[in-house]
Amino acid sequence: MTKDLDDLAAMERFGAAIAERLRPGDVVALSGSLGAGKTTLARAIIAAMGHVGEVPSPSFAIIESYESPMLRIPLVHADFYRLDHPDEAEQLGLDDYREGAAMIAEWPENAGGFADEPGCLSIRLEHRGEGRIATVEPGADWVSRCP
Ligand SMILES: Nc1ncnc2c1ncn2[C@@H]1O[C@H](COP(=O)(O)OP(=O)(O)OP(=O)(O)O)[C@@H](O)[C@H]1O
Ligand SMILES: [Mg+2]
Repeated sequence: MTKDLDDLAAMERFGAAIAERLRPGDVVALSGSLGAGKTTLARAIIAAMGHVGEVPSPSFAIIESYESPMLRIPLVHADFYRLDHPDEAEQLGLDDYREGAAMIAEWPENAGGFADEPGCLSIRLEHRGEGRIATVEPGADWVSRCP
């Protein structure tokens, strides 16, 4: 299914719709080329989860955790752009970060991909005009709660 995201306000609304459906163990896998809007959507989700304040792009740190009591559930924001090999995700302790948390993953394919997990919501972002279009593929656990 596809979704038009014509402007930043549409991005905020889509992020909020994802945030209210998110459960521990889920992965929101955000793919798309440079500048497609992955970090923008990730920030919209994190803000809608209740986080107040800055959301640094994890392109350098690779993994950022959000566990403040303001958040409904613990959240991990990962950007796997800089990984050279999927094994590196494991070496960073990704499984430990994910324990009890939901994850938002940019460049998921660099970590081997997560689409085989039933809790994976795959979203591909592409430019369309001034805005973006999202192609959404829900894993089995998302079918009945697809945003
Ligand atoms: N739906 C939208 N409509 C218009 N502009 C958008 C939309 N989504 C994102 N943008 C703008 O696109 C630019 C790039 O977005 P963003 O940094 O989120 O991309 P990215 O996919 O994370 O890129 P990278 O892979 O380089 O990290 C930003 O300036 C952002 O404001
Ligand atoms: Mg980004």
